Amino acid sequence: MNTLLHYLFLLCFIILLPAVHSQCIKDQQQSLLHLKKSLQFDPPSWRTPLIISWNSSTDCCSWGGVTCTSNGHVVGLDLSFEGSFANFSTPRVLDLSSNNISGPIPGSFANFPNLRELDLSGNPISDPIPGFFANFSKLTSLSLSNCQLNGTFPKEIFQVPTLQTIDLSDNSKLGGSLPDFPENNGSLLSLILRGTNFSGSLPDSIGNLKILSWIDLSYCNFYGSIPSSFFSLPFLLELNLAHNQFSGELVFSNVSSDLSTLDLSFNHLDGQIPVSIFNFRGLESLQLSSNNFSGFPFNGPQQVKYLTNIDLSYNSLLSLYNGTDSSYSSFPEVISLNLAANKLRTIPYFLRNQSTLSSLSLSENHIQGKIPHWIWSSNQLDSLNLSCNSLATLEPHLYNSTVKTVDLHSNQLQGQIPTFLPFAKYLDYSRNNFRSIPSNIGDFLTNTLFFSLSSNNLHGLIPTSICNSQIQILDMSNNSLSGMIPQCLTAIRDISVLNLARNNLTGTISNVEVSENSSLEILEFATNRLGGQVPKSLAKCTKLKVLNMGNNNITDTFPCLLKSISTLRVLVVRSNNFYGGIECLNTNVTWPGLQIIDLAHNNFRGEIQGILWRTWQKMMVTEDGSLLTINGHYLRRIFNPFVPNDGYGLEEVSLGFGYDISTTVTNKGSEMNLVKILSIFTLIDFSCNNFSGPIPKEMGEFKSLRVLNLSKNAFTGEIPSSFGNMSTLECLDLSLNKLSGRNPITNSTIFSLNGIRTFVIFITRD
Ligand SMILES: *[C@@H]1O[C@H](CO)[C@@H](O)[C@H](O)[C@H]1NC(C)=O
Ligand SMILES: *[C@@H]1O[C@H](CO)[C@@H](O)[C@H](O)[C@H]1NC(C)=O
Ligand SMILES: *[C@@H]1O[C@H](CO)[C@@H](O)[C@H](O)[C@H]1NC(C)=O
Ligand SMILES: *[C@@H]1O[C@H](CO)[C@@H](O)[C@H](O)[C@H]1NC(C)=O
Ligand SMILES: *[C@@H]1O[C@H](CO)[C@@H](O)[C@H](O)[C@H]1NC(C)=O
Ligand SMILES: *[C@@H]1O[C@H](CO)[C@@H](O)[C@H](O)[C@H]1NC(C)=O
Ligand SMILES: *[C@@H]1O[C@H](CO)[C@@H](O)[C@H](O)[C@H]1NC(C)=O
Ligand SMILES: *[C@@H]1O[C@H](CO)[C@@H](O)[C@H](O)[C@H]1NC(C)=O
Ligand SMILES: *[C@@H]1O[C@H](CO)[C@@H](O)[C@H](O)[C@H]1NC(C)=O
Ligand SMILES: *[C@@H]1O[C@H](CO)[C@@H](O)[C@H](O)[C@H]1NC(C)=O
Ligand SMILES: *[C@@H]1O[C@H](CO)[C@@H](O)[C@H](O)[C@H]1NC(C)=O
Ligand SMILES: *[C@@H]1O[C@H](CO)[C@@H](O)[C@H](O)[C@H]1NC(C)=O
Repeated sequence: MNTLLHYLFLLCFIILLPAVHSQCIKDQQQSLLHLKKSLQFDPPSWRTPLIISWNSSTDCCSWGGVTCTSNGHVVGLDLSFEGSFANFSTPRVLDLSSNNISGPIPGSFANFPNLRELDLSGNPISDPIPGFFANFSKLTSLSLSNCQLNGTFPKEIFQVPTLQTIDLSDNSKLGGSLPDFPENNGSLLSLILRGTNFSGSLPDSIGNLKILSWIDLSYCNFYGSIPSSFFSLPFLLELNLAHNQFSGELVFSNVSSDLSTLDLSFNHLDGQIPVSIFNFRGLESLQLSSNNFSGFPFNGPQQVKYLTNIDLSYNSLLSLYNGTDSSYSSFPEVISLNLAANKLRTIPYFLRNQSTLSSLSLSENHIQGKIPHWIWSSNQLDSLNLSCNSLATLEPHLYNSTVKTVDLHSNQLQGQIPTFLPFAKYLDYSRNNFRSIPSNIGDFLTNTLFFSLSSNNLHGLIPTSICNSQIQILDMSNNSLSGMIPQCLTAIRDISVLNLARNNLTGTISNVEVSENSSLEILEFATNRLGGQVPKSLAKCTKLKVLNMGNNNITDTFPCLLKSISTLRVLVVRSNNFYGGIECLNTNVTWPGLQIIDLAHNNFRGEIQGILWRTWQKMMVTEDGSLLTINGHYLRRIFNPFVPNDGYGLEEVSLGFGYDISTTVTNKGSEMNLVKILSIFTLIDFSCNNFSGPIPKEMGEFKSLRVLNLSKNAFTGEIPSSFGNMSTLECLDLSLNKLSGRNPITNSTIFSLNGIRTFVIFITRD
């Protein structure tokens, strides 16, 4: 009501007191209409742009996004999605960001020479940047990021004496080399060219831009050496030259004392890292990863008080200075130090004096010998990554360490799984040579969420004490563990991944229990010596995505109890003693996301009904389906069972057990990040059973199926012509059945062979 009254009042006001106050100046209305006309406007579908409301029959001060002074001067234009108003005496700020404006920057902009700020970012604007900006004598900020501009750097822009910010980032078609920077004290504060195609060597004249503070030239194509004039810009705060092709040695003469972030990562810089790098007294973050630096002979006192983060990973550092004791303290105390993927042979001794270190990575070096006890001692240390080295022993550690993330995978550690890390949330001991698990291990896992022991040499029973933990991901695969699977293991309350595959486990699995509301998403106990039946309690796993029971001795009928688990993506029961029909799948509500079903090498029999296929939508989508996520983590495809092969050879390809779902684990700070392997791979393997009757023509609807193996059954009749629709099929094996009809290889009416890389088909005629 209030609003309505207000509106009526306003209306009266305008009628009673026309013109002067609110009406905009004719010239300005014309300019704005001209601007509107010149913009090739195709508004985003999700909002109606304010500019649509502009027309000559209304007062331009009433137009959306236009701000006027009381005497009708247009002082601000804000047409952005969430822009801010500016408020000056003539049009000073023009924010047209994210309006889906296309075409070249219109010449009508030249009508706004008093603009202070122009923001056209996030529009698909094309063509080169026009020269008329040189006439914008008051321009302070030009933002053209994330457009589709092409051409070269608009060097006229340096004629603008007031320009402070130029942002041309994310315009991949802007290229050529940078012009010489003019000789003056300059006004330019930030130069943002990230994600463009500018190339060539950098002009030394950048030193002329005396007050430059932010430089982001990352993700461009610059090469040559980095001019030392860069580093002596007196007000430089942030310098980002990452992801270019800079080479040569780093040389600093006079260094800027304000520089806080220096990012030179992903270049080809080499030689030694000059120790004078610590003369940047304001330095907080030093990123030099992914270059070819060979040494870092730091010594003597240094003055970096604020440095918290050093990344030297992926270089060729052979050693870090390890001189006399007094020099150890000369390395600045930092919070995060990344030395991964270098050529270090020892754990640098100076680390002993690092009392503030919270995150340390030495993975992928050539470190041998023992892990010193002192490395665990700091109370600040939160995350330690020593993976992928040749470490053989753990020095005895008498006190518990407070480290929360520990990655020791891929070393040669032996003996018993250590127990001095009861605070760790993330423990990766995989790919070592550990031989035994202490039976009370559970007492030391009270905080652990991720625990991997996979690919060691572990013998003995699985300790039931593990069931007292709150583990979410437990991987003990690929060891020699024996005995029965403790019933309680699958019932750990929040467990989502349990992998016991490739061990020597025996006994029955019939009585394996899961909890109500089970969180289990991946359950693997393939390749053991397990017998019994599919546990009835698995029906409670309503989130199950992967169930792999292959290569055991399970004697049961098809596990129809799983049929209402709509999340199932992978079901593998191959090489067991399953028998009978698979009729329970003849419903249209089963497993819409199924990608892999492997029933091979069992005693299944009977006809396969067409209806079965209707529900497996995942196999029917034509595009590469979405990535499978588990616990919010992505499952990535690595497996490809096929040797690259462009011909259509008739060699038999062993499908084997290749899609083994092995885990790779990456550490990101203390955050757990499980990268599981698998994704758009789709497979149906029913081979080596006694299925009979015709192959259902509905199978041809599996447009995203990659592997279909129906060999060694008793299928009869012809190959359905609908098979020609399976456009992503890479491997088809129908051999050793009782099929009749034409050989599709020699008559391509049935099959489209386009895109099929490996094609295996044998048709046996009786
Ligand atoms: C942007 O405009 C193009 C045509 O110029 C149109 O196809 C596209 O859908 C528009 N984008 C949005 C987000 O509306
Ligand atoms: C201008 O806008 C007004 C109000 O939105 C509308 O009534 C009028 O038809 C428009 N005129 C033209 C020429 O589009
Ligand atoms: C514009 O300036 C006027 C006068 O200085 C002020 O009252 C008004 O709040 C300003 N508007 C905005 C949106 O900043
Ligand atoms: C700048 O303005 C002058 C005078 O208005 C004009 O002659 C010149 O062509 C303009 N320069 C550019 C690059 O548009
Ligand atoms: C810029 O792109 C337009 C098309 O978008 C093309 O016509 C023009 O030739 C290009 N100019 C340059 C300098 O690459
Ligand atoms: C640059 O600045 C210095 C002092 O800050 C001044 O002496 C000199 O005249 C300036 N030069 C120009 C070209 O503005
Ligand atoms: C420093 O490390 C190098 C390489 O590991 C080694 O050869 C040298 O003996 C060490 N020097 C001292 C003083 O420990
Ligand atoms: C280490 O932690 C375990 C399990 O929390 C505890 O039983 C033990 O007393 C601790 N040892 C020391 C030395 O603090
Ligand atoms: C598996 O266990 C049996 C005894 O139960 C033993 O003979 C065999 O060596 C074990 N296999 C492996 C690979 O540990
Ligand atoms: C497999 O299970 C069957 C029946 O449960 C049993 O007779 C047979 O001995 C088992 N085979 C092996 C190798 O354990
Ligand atoms: C399942 O199929 C039957 C018969 O084809 C049909 O009546 C029913 O609506 C289908 N249900 C669903 C959920 O699609
Ligand atoms: C496939 O075989 C059928 C029957 O022999 C014939 O009519 C058809 O033309 C053949 N197609 C091709 C592409 O050879």
